[in-house]
Amino acid sequence: MTDHSKIVVFGGTGLVGSAILRKLVEKGYKNILATYHRSPITDHRSLITFIQIDLTNQQSVADFFKTHRPEYVFLAAAKVGGIWANNVYRADFIYQNLQIQNNVIHQSYLNEVKKLLFLGSTCIYPKNCPQPIKEEYLLTGELEYTNEPYAIAKIAGIKMCESFNLQYGTNFISVMPTNLYGENDNFDLEKSHVLPALIRKIHLGKCLEENNWNEIRRDLNKRPIEGVDGNAPKDEILRILDKYGIKITESDQLSVISDHFSAHYSPITDHRSQLTDHSSPITDNSSPITIEVWGTGKPKREFLWSDDMADACVFIMENVDFKDVISDQLSVNSKQLTTHSSPLTDHSSLFTVYRSQITEIRNTHINIGTGKDISIKDLAYLIKDIIGFRGGFYFNTSKPDGTMRKVTDVSKLHSLGWRHSIELKEGIERVYRWYLK
Ligand SMILES: NC(=O)c1ccc[n+]([C@@H]2O[C@H](COP(=O)([O-])OP(=O)(O)OC[C@H]3O[C@@H](n4cnc5c(N)ncnc54)[C@H](OP(=O)(O)O)[C@@H]3O)[C@@H](O)[C@H]2O)c1
Repeated sequence: MTDHSKIVVFGGTGLVGSAILRKLVEKGYKNILATYHRSPITDHRSLITFIQIDLTNQQSVADFFKTHRPEYVFLAAAKVGGIWANNVYRADFIYQNLQIQNNVIHQSYLNEVKKLLFLGSTCIYPKNCPQPIKEEYLLTGELEYTNEPYAIAKIAGIKMCESFNLQYGTNFISVMPTNLYGENDNFDLEKSHVLPALIRKIHLGKCLEENNWNEIRRDLNKRPIEGVDGNAPKDEILRILDKYGIKITESDQLSVISDHFSAHYSPITDHRSQLTDHSSPITDNSSPITIEVWGTGKPKREFLWSDDMADACVFIMENVDFKDVISDQLSVNSKQLTTHSSPLTDHSSLFTVYRSQITEIRNTHINIGTGKDISIKDLAYLIKDIIGFRGGFYFNTSKPDGTMRKVTDVSKLHSLGWRHSIELKEGIERVYRWYLK
């Protein structure tokens, strides 16, 4: 890529897309287009032109490519959500994701895009695969039920990139990011992922604890919950917060006891200290607020700061070609591949090499992560400490846990020359500062 290459970021308003845009601007790229679907553009950068498009519409995508002729494509547009949304909106998740990726990948091929980066996700690996997750575990076992439709769509996207590369010699790379978090994350309590949901719930819990109604109303005006905004009466606000697990615990409703009592706060002096059920722990102190966390809190997850993820995406776009991720699978070494008579990224040479080797090429995607995981329970306590919330947690074991452990093996990424730089605590501090703005 040169400074003036025509680069398109599909999904430029999303968590990943906006982070990729920041990175591209930071690195001095000057010819950048971004697309959005419904979100208002709040983040104006004069160097970037935003275009509204529904990527599920085949004709609109074809027209877009004809008009704008991109050279490099980041496909960061997708229908994305947490466990609940994936489980309930199953049809939307499979249909919209298949449509978006079919349209963009096919048009990238027809319009001779030089390189495309497709975003998969580590949640599409089999639910019980060995840990840490290696690229080769894809399609080796049963998928997690809650996000099966989404996973099937994403796997189709990866196979589509791989197949176009093998048949037509395109240079389409798929990456498998772990859970991401960062600026422009989705804090909608109905649909968000665990980390932003916990940040918002714990923040609102702290506001309730401090009787800070100005901030509660500001928060709800910015992000209404089920249409309830900051102008609603207190009762209605309390009802909606309660529905989403930010609860004022009446003393006569308590049925559980603290197992994580913090030394920083005064000891429990009321009847709660006499209760003995440890099955659903609440951290407790003088605060009357508890935050509901879905599941047992035991599943372990890995989190990557979205700007690190963007850095990895741009690094791969700049430095990694399809031939680099398959050289170990062909029975020729990478030296022979790169000295092949014509460049491997043209539409015939890779195909020729592939056919002449008569070998199977799979799992050409690249994991992107930190290689480190944390339990949901420890994550909740980490966020609690960062935000300064004094209340406790209620782990609602009637809600699904999802896969028990998910951490990526990032050795392929490391061998390609990239490593993460922001650790979880620093990332949460940053995203909380951003959230408060
Ligand atoms: N977030 C994570 O933790 C994570 C982890 C692993 C992988 N990924 C992958 O990274 C990619 C981006 O995820 P994200 O978290 O950035 O999602 P996101 O914040 O929800 O952003 C999605 C983007 O896609 C756009 N979009 C959705 N439907 C569209 C449509 N029909 N037409 C045009 N644009 C559409 C959205 O536009 P509007 O905002 O205008 O609607 C938005 O810009 C996805 O492929 C996801 O699987 C994400």
